[in-house]
Amino acid sequence: MPSDRSIKIAPSILSADFADFGREIQAIEAQGCDWVHVDVMDGHFVPNLTFGPPLCAAIRRHVTTLMDVHLMISPVDPYIEAFASAGADIITAHAEAGPHTHRTLQAIRTTGAKAGLALNPATPADTVEYLLDMVDLVCVMTVNPGFGGQKFIRSQIEKIARLRAMIGDRPVHIEVDGGITPETAPLVAAAGADVLVAGSGVFRGGSVADPAPYGANIRAIRAAAEGATQAAAE
Ligand code: DX5
Ligand code: ZN
Repeated sequence: MPSDRSIKIAPSILSADFADFGREIQAIEAQGCDWVHVDVMDGHFVPNLTFGPPLCAAIRRHVTTLMDVHLMISPVDPYIEAFASAGADIITAHAEAGPHTHRTLQAIRTTGAKAGLALNPATPADTVEYLLDMVDLVCVMTVNPGFGGQKFIRSQIEKIARLRAMIGDRPVHIEVDGGITPETAPLVAAAGADVLVAGSGVFRGGSVADPAPYGANIRAIRAAAEGATQAAAE
């Protein structure tokens, strides 16, 4: 059965107020987001450090939708169980994080979480060819992982289209992560992405005290993406 390919907006809390995650999550959910995207960085696989399983567990208590945990860490296998116990609904590991991606995906599914595989901009779509029945989500990095607010890398649009063709009717989401705005959303949606992560694109202009801009940003990205998928279907 094909998966739900409706457009889903997943704000990255990397762009939220780190001292107020609970209220930030309540605000983005009240403003209409679909998933909550949590960026875990280790200062080794990527040149930035964020947070680990205890913070994910604390965040999870505020999430009523779905917690999408993006692990930018290497090694990744030793930490999968801890992030699953922290309540991750989806755990995404990077194809570049180690030599045994197949084992990593097996380990994620064994916990009961959905398994995601992220591809850096230089990593070809073919990397997932023999893994398509082991993943619930492929994340196409449309920036180099590590930081919010970077410029969208256009070469990844073709990768998304190739993945869409490879996936066929399998129940596998295509997520895009990095530089997603109302300007870039139509490009990735038309190519076949259905989960749009956006950090600065959602949080810009708003705050927990004034969350309406979050809603306006989410609606603008969603409308731009849905317009492109409808146009592609016609
Ligand atoms: C980048 C992270 C992204 C990031 C996206 O390493 O994986 O999730 O927060 O930020 P924007 O949407 O600002 O590019
Ligand atoms: Zn991310």
